[in-house]
Amino acid sequence: EVSEVRKEKVYIVGGIVRDLLLGIENFDLDIVVEGNGMNFAKELGEKLNAKKVVLHSKFRTGVVIVDEKLKIDVASSRVEYYEYPTSLPVVEYGNIKQDLYRRDFTINAMAIEIDYNKFGRLIDYFKGYSDLKNGKIRILHNFSFVEDPTRIIRGIRFAVRYNFEFDAETKRFAKLSVEEGFLKRLTWKRVKYEIELILNEKNPKKAIYMLEEYGVLKAIHKSIKLTKKTEVAFKNLEKYKEYITKLNLKQWIVYFLVLLEDLNSEELTNIFFKFHFPNKFIEKYKFGKIKREKIIDELKSSEKKSKIYNSLKKLSGDLILLLLITVDSEKEENKILEYINEIRNIKPLIMGKDLIKLGYKPNENFKNILNISFMYQLDNQELCKEELLQYIK
Ligand code: CTP
Repeated sequence: EVSEVRKEKVYIVGGIVRDLLLGIENFDLDIVVEGNGMNFAKELGEKLNAKKVVLHSKFRTGVVIVDEKLKIDVASSRVEYYEYPTSLPVVEYGNIKQDLYRRDFTINAMAIEIDYNKFGRLIDYFKGYSDLKNGKIRILHNFSFVEDPTRIIRGIRFAVRYNFEFDAETKRFAKLSVEEGFLKRLTWKRVKYEIELILNEKNPKKAIYMLEEYGVLKAIHKSIKLTKKTEVAFKNLEKYKEYITKLNLKQWIVYFLVLLEDLNSEELTNIFFKFHFPNKFIEKYKFGKIKREKIIDELKSSEKKSKIYNSLKKLSGDLILLLLITVDSEKEENKILEYINEIRNIKPLIMGKDLIKLGYKPNENFKNILNISFMYQLDNQELCKEELLQYIK
């Protein structure tokens, strides 16, 4: 209706078209207007009674925030060209065909017209629908990866997500671009963003194997590669994937840390720094890494719950999961599982206020008493609170 008034052609484009055709849910609504996207966004916002409309006059785009759940990105159709490979693109306003041509893959370069007269018409200049049906990831032109090397990682992400494969030439260009070092031109921020996205997908293990195949891992850092040890860890991680949620962890970080398993301290510091991991995280990780062997040794001689608790309580969730998937004895694996599933959730029955009621004055010893009481509770779980208080007395 807005397009009818404004006499502009309007399309939904990119990911949402791809997923509509695949029958997959997607709520990222990207609209392209052959005209002034910013003004269109303003009017659309009014029409939809949107909560807010954010405008960017530089690119003539706007974001219509309809409510908490629905956000619509509106852009003006544009053409981008590079004065020389890897230069920043020159942006000008163009038609929908030019707009689609600047995109990454044929499956992402389709549009559906949504203006009044031709609502629902599929615009497919580059055989995207055919590639979608045949499960092919194909670039639109030979310079695609040169212009934007993140597309190599994006392509792998889509290949893994939809179980598609790269068409032969796209594959050749992708591998060549990695070999030529194009990924090194990207800022670390962009690399991190892509790694985060790909490792947060449903099948991160498959993605990692593909990243290795295309040389992306070693392009990120020369020491990152799949080894026997990391392959076993990834296999075990599949078995224990539900623990990522159970321990409240971020999936991409867990998979990334497994990739870094064989790196030395200096290499780790370097990567963590480039990926902007917070200092607190790095300290905890390094602490856990140094203590790892000692903790496994401790676990070997720990049958009691209190001892298992004391060995593992110092570790962050990431490290506990890493320990679980790398430990080579089933007995210790079971102790770690016991800690995650049971011990770490046990709450102390006796608190400071109970000691005060017993007539103890808060002093340095207080903490020790509480601690000893908790250890006693862990190893004698049949005891009730009254019996524990009796023991303290
Ligand atoms: N695009 C591109 N090159 C990039 C990034 C994006 O050509 N490096 C284009 C593609 O047409 C893509 C669209 O911009 O479909 C939107 O990008 P984005 O939201 O990042 O990806 P989606 O395709 O929507 O994928 P996802 O489902 O992962 O959100």
